[in-house]
Amino acid sequence: MMQWLLPGSLLLSFLASSNAFYLPGAAPHDYARGDEVKLLVNALTPMLAGTDNAKLKSLINYDYYNPQFHFCEPEGGHKSEPESLGSILFGDRIFNSPYNIKILENNGTCQTLCRTNVTPEDAKFINDRIKEDYALNWLVDGLPAAEMKIDLKTNDVFFDMGFNLGNDEEEFAEQPALNNHYEIVLKYHQPKDSVYRVVGVLVWPSSRGGDQDAPIDCDATETSALILNEGSDNRVRYTYRITWSESDTPWATRWDNYLHIFDPRIHWFSLINSIVIVVFLCGMTSMILLRTVSRDISRYNAVDLNEDVQEDYGWKLVHGEVFRTPQHPMLLSVLVGNGAQLCAMVGVTLVFALLGFLSPSNRGSLATVMMICWTLFGSIGGYMSSRIYASMGGQNKRKNTFLTATILPTVVFGIVFLLDLFLITAGSSGAVPFGTMALIVVLWFGISAPLSAIGSYYGSKHGAITHPVRVNPIPRQIPPTPKYLKPWAATLLAGILPFGAAFVELYFVLSSLFASRAYYAFGFLALTAGVVSLTTATVSILFTYFVLCAEEYRWHWRAFLTGGGSAIWLLAYGIFYWVSRLSLGSFSSVVLYMGYLLLLVLLDFLVTGTIGFLATYWAVRRLYSAIRID
Ligand SMILES: *[C@@H]1O[C@H](CO)[C@@H](O)[C@H](O)[C@H]1NC(C)=O
Repeated sequence: MMQWLLPGSLLLSFLASSNAFYLPGAAPHDYARGDEVKLLVNALTPMLAGTDNAKLKSLINYDYYNPQFHFCEPEGGHKSEPESLGSILFGDRIFNSPYNIKILENNGTCQTLCRTNVTPEDAKFINDRIKEDYALNWLVDGLPAAEMKIDLKTNDVFFDMGFNLGNDEEEFAEQPALNNHYEIVLKYHQPKDSVYRVVGVLVWPSSRGGDQDAPIDCDATETSALILNEGSDNRVRYTYRITWSESDTPWATRWDNYLHIFDPRIHWFSLINSIVIVVFLCGMTSMILLRTVSRDISRYNAVDLNEDVQEDYGWKLVHGEVFRTPQHPMLLSVLVGNGAQLCAMVGVTLVFALLGFLSPSNRGSLATVMMICWTLFGSIGGYMSSRIYASMGGQNKRKNTFLTATILPTVVFGIVFLLDLFLITAGSSGAVPFGTMALIVVLWFGISAPLSAIGSYYGSKHGAITHPVRVNPIPRQIPPTPKYLKPWAATLLAGILPFGAAFVELYFVLSSLFASRAYYAFGFLALTAGVVSLTTATVSILFTYFVLCAEEYRWHWRAFLTGGGSAIWLLAYGIFYWVSRLSLGSFSSVVLYMGYLLLLVLLDFLVTGTIGFLATYWAVRRLYSAIRID
């Protein structure tokens, strides 16, 4: 269970061994013989078809009961199941289904679910989805139905969540074949007499052609595939067979098979590799920096006052300028405030994840925790923003409070709203429903914005941060700076290191965001986040030191930009990922991908920019309080 890493695994095994205490949503459901087990259906998602060089072909989800699929409806129509906010935001649309499953009953019985007619237009729709490798996502007792696969590199058996809507492989049939028969294997564990728990759900879908009205025979092996004719009406019969198979997997570890990490060794090696390189680099630079700076300081302070010509040089020269108000202090402080809010959110969410609170059976818990943290940390955003604003000599406190509370949510909301419009026109179920949108607006206006205002109030009450040196009344001339210290060059150069530390993990994060692969390697993620923030801080301080030595004193914005430099590399990597791992057919999918990527880049820019700025601010104050100014 290396994916839970360190404290997570300890705590999890503790929780697993102490039956008395389970997290909400993580308590086992005990069934008796003959109890009904609900099979729930989730939205259809595009799937990465097994092989290494498979590409994702779409990003759009479809409701299971989208009328064009003609899946069998439960009696009296389908009903949606209650879901958490995060689960809805991440695209879950869960409904009930007509499958009749009772513990240990109907073992091996071949059953017909229903027969439907598929019109020519809908046949084309289904065939297109089969060609795009769409997968069905079922949930039984909170577990996703999966296909059993073998990792060719390690020969490990693992459960790949979701199973194919149809089959589009050339050797199988020249046309896409619809899977209309499901072999469902339910693995159960019996902790004590007449108590049953579901610990695994496997589905082998297959395509059964021939006369769809004939009596069913699940063992018929020689049937042809069911190919939907796009020129006429099609009769489709859905059949299934349930097999109950006893398993010794206890309930507590039932997720292990699902949380398979491909190539764990590569994962480990590259992670350790980048950590070593980065820690080494950070150590080196901070050592060099510390030695040079302390030499500078002793030299500056040792200058004999009796000498006629006192030669000031380097960063000491600009001591009268460093705390001069930068351009656009309002925008900068609002960005830092919002960035601090996001940093706090990311940090707390990672701690939750590491402690094992975000169990995979709690669908969407990650996104829910993130939303709640973000809402509550509005106060941190307001406080930071108003204090930084006051420190930079800003006067318009009200405007600062207002902008801090509104500007980022508006931008994010705007982007999500535009993407939603695209999803709706594409007929996808992925669009955020109106009720959820309303709930988010309530969270924002009702909780986050007032908290932000309270934070701002306390921030301005605490007032400006004191500066160790005074600002000269007349600004100095700035000599021309070397090319590599120009803002853009510095941003790009400085971004390489934090990005280099993160890009191994980034691949897995992107795959889980876009290719709906499960991501539970929070240990790796937390380590990576730690290394990235450390590198970002060090690199920003280093570049600011160079900039000040070049007698360029306008460091505020540069510190933010060099900190956020990794976001530009993230954007580039996102585009590379698109080219190498996705082959998006439709325009809507492309818009969707770019939209989500831009959102991700924007948030990353704010977080890393804020880390860079705050670290540099701290360092600059330390630096200038160490020298003697006459
Ligand atoms: C169900 O049937 C399969 C074989 O058809 C058998 O291996 C299994 O033990 C049966 N399960 C139960 C609970 O009877």
